[in-house]
Amino acid sequence: MELTVDLGGAVLRNPVIAASGCYNRGAEYGRIVDVSAYGAVTLKSITRLPRLGNDMPRVLSTPAGLLNAIGLQGPGIEYFLAHEAPKLSTVPTAVIASVAGFSVDEFVDVAVRMDGLPNVVAIELDVSCPNVDDEGECFAANPMSTASVVAAVKARVRLPVIAKLTPNVTDIKPIARAAESAGANALSLINSVRGMAIDVDRARPWLANRSGGLTGPAIRPVGVYAVWEAASVVSIPIVGMGGIETGRDALEFLMAGATAVSIGTANFRDPLAPVKVVEAIRAECARRGFSSVRSLVGLANASFAGVRA
Ligand SMILES: Cc1cc2nc3c(=O)[nH]c(=O)nc-3n(C[C@H](O)[C@H](O)[C@H](O)COP(=O)(O)O)c2cc1C
Repeated sequence: MELTVDLGGAVLRNPVIAASGCYNRGAEYGRIVDVSAYGAVTLKSITRLPRLGNDMPRVLSTPAGLLNAIGLQGPGIEYFLAHEAPKLSTVPTAVIASVAGFSVDEFVDVAVRMDGLPNVVAIELDVSCPNVDDEGECFAANPMSTASVVAAVKARVRLPVIAKLTPNVTDIKPIARAAESAGANALSLINSVRGMAIDVDRARPWLANRSGGLTGPAIRPVGVYAVWEAASVVSIPIVGMGGIETGRDALEFLMAGATAVSIGTANFRDPLAPVKVVEAIRAECARRGFSSVRSLVGLANASFAGVRA
């Protein structure tokens, strides 16, 4: 069974990836699960400067997911290069570096320094951050600012670039198209869905940051729809995510048009999720008589078109 996938030049041994911010390079998980079950792991997004993140509380469990406002806590690129990057060669699978920034210049600066690190096969751009040069509007909320980040990074790095988009927009299609036109080699979607919870006893928001990002099973239909929509307007590969816990969840994303899938929140509850998801994809291919996972990509779209014809 051919499980290899090509994400715009980054070739992965299977289509199941650990999502940014939920796994890093898998060091903690390695004690309980074989990290090489993943086709790739995506590092926590790195910014130029160290960041403490938001005040606590910054994570809240909700009926079908997690509300978080971590606020891009991280050591910054200097520390990362000195202390974390040398360990990347020990990761037993491919690594996708993730860059976050508050200006185009920051994205370029950090991405250039990630380019060529051991084991790193692609650079993902977390364009869901606010743009300080544009009144704090989220880069990925707007086709032009998305394109400006992607084009500037593409001009300076050799690795494939993946633009990670936010679902918190009216229409994801023009943004997906803009990222592709600016040179993105792949898209990743979705980042968390904006949300809020109120502590009724204390009559105030639960999170110190007030609002946060919802992840986990609650957002799966939002993610599947975003992939379906983006796949209808771009020809670059898409990494689908949002609430994937089981093989069937992953198959939804592949059939909607994703070439690969990422697992984030589910790792906290079930570290064996990647093992089960890869096995389920293999079994589904076998059941349908497919020799490659690529035959599953966009299958729902094809069947739907067939029904309409
Ligand atoms: C605690 C936490 C931290 C996250 N940090 C990042 C991050 O640094 N960069 C990023 O692009 N996405 C980040 N995400 C978003 C995930 O990568 C993913 O897009 C989202 O959680 C949806 O997938 P899931 O429902 O499988 O978790 C974070 C998610 C969680 C739960």
